[in-house]
Amino acid sequence: MTATYLDHAATTLVRDEVLAAYGEDLRRLGNPSSVHGPGREARRVLEESRESIAADLGAHPTEVIFTAGGTEADNLAVVGTFHAAVAGTATRRAVAISTVEHPAVLDAAHWLGSAQGAEVTELGVDEQGVLDLDALTAYLAVAGERTAVVALMWANNETGAVQPIPQVAAACAAAGVPVHSDAVQAVGHLPVDFAASGLTTLALSGHKLGAPVGTGALLARRDAALQPVLHGGGQERGIRSGTLDAAGARALAIAVRIAVAEQAAEHARLTTLRDRLQAGVLAAVPDAVVRSAGADRLPGHLLMTFPGTDADAVLFGLDAAGIAASSGSACTAGVTQPSHVLLAMGADQRTARSAVRFTLGWTSTDADVDHALATLPAVLERARAAGRVGAR
Ligand SMILES: Cc1ncc(COP(=O)(O)O)c(C=O)c1O
Repeated sequence: MTATYLDHAATTLVRDEVLAAYGEDLRRLGNPSSVHGPGREARRVLEESRESIAADLGAHPTEVIFTAGGTEADNLAVVGTFHAAVAGTATRRAVAISTVEHPAVLDAAHWLGSAQGAEVTELGVDEQGVLDLDALTAYLAVAGERTAVVALMWANNETGAVQPIPQVAAACAAAGVPVHSDAVQAVGHLPVDFAASGLTTLALSGHKLGAPVGTGALLARRDAALQPVLHGGGQERGIRSGTLDAAGARALAIAVRIAVAEQAAEHARLTTLRDRLQAGVLAAVPDAVVRSAGADRLPGHLLMTFPGTDADAVLFGLDAAGIAASSGSACTAGVTQPSHVLLAMGADQRTARSAVRFTLGWTSTDADVDHALATLPAVLERARAAGRVGAR
C-alpha cells in the first residue's frame, strides 16, 4: 500500500462528490439522444454539465465538446483543424508545435506529417522549457500563410513550466492562424478563461481533476473549423460521434467546479508544500538540480535531476518505501527513455535519465512531504551506489 502519493500529474484521486454523483448517474437509464422521458432526463444532465463547465472556464456552452479524455481532445484539435484547413484551402498544410508537447499533440502532429502530407515544424524552448517566442515570430513570418494550426501546451506535464499563451494567441491571431492549447495540466491549477485566452481550441482531461479516467472535453470557439476524427451518429454537432456520456459529463462538471472554486487557495497551499519539498531535497542532496526553477511553474510540480543516478533505481527505491513518484510523463513511464522534454531543454541523455518528477495535488499533505524528505537521501545513496557498480 502506497502511503505517499506524489504523482498527481499522472492521475489524481476521484473526489467524493464526483463519485457520489457518478454512481447515481450510472444507474440512471436513458440515452441522451433518445426522445423518451429517460432520454430527456439524461440529456438534461448532459446539458447542465455543459453549461457548468462553460461557466467555469469562460466558454459558451456550445463551445464545449465532450470527449473521452485529453488525448482525444488533443487529437481532435490538431487533426480536425488540419483537415478542415486542407479542405478549405489546400495551401494550408503546415503545422507548428513546441518541442515539449505531450505525445497526444506531438504524435498527432507527426502522424499528420508522415501520413497526411503535413509540413511539421517543432519550435524550440529555452533551458527553462519555455517556448522561444522569437522562433514563433520567425516561423509565422515565413510560414503563417500556409499554416493550418499552431499547438502550444498551457503548462508542461513534466516540468510544470507555464507557457506564454497570451503572446502566442496574439501572434497567431495577427497571422490568422488557429491556435490550440493542451491545458490538461493547467485547468484547476491556474486560472483558465477560454474567451479571454484568444485560443481557438483548448483540451482538458477529467482524471487530472478528480473525475474518472475517460472524461474530458475540447473547448472549440464557435468559428473554429474542425473536421471530425470519429465518424458515426453525429453527436456533439457532428464533430464528435459516439453515444453521449451523461454520467461522465456530470462527473467532469463537478470536478471542474470544485477545482476552479478551490484553485486560488490550492495554488497557495501546494506552492508552500512544493517549495518545502524542494528546499528540503536541495539541503540534503546539494547536487540535485531543480528543472524549470526559473520559469513560472505549476504549483504542485517539482522535476529534479540527480547526478549519477538512474531514475528507475530511484523510483524503485521510493516505491519500496511507499512513495509513488514518476520519471516524467506517465504515458511513457515503464519504457526507459530519456525525457524528450529535458532533451529539448538542452540536457544530455544521462541527465535526462536521472529525472524524477514529484507532483502534489488535492490530497497532498505536510506528512507526504515529511515522508519524502525522510526517505529520499538514503534512496538516492543506494541508487548512486548501484550506478557506480553498474558503471564498472
Ligand atoms: C499535458 C497532457 N496532455 C494530454 C494528456 C492525456 O490526457 P488523457 O490521459 O486524458 O488522455 C496528459 C496526460 O498525461 C497530459 O499530461
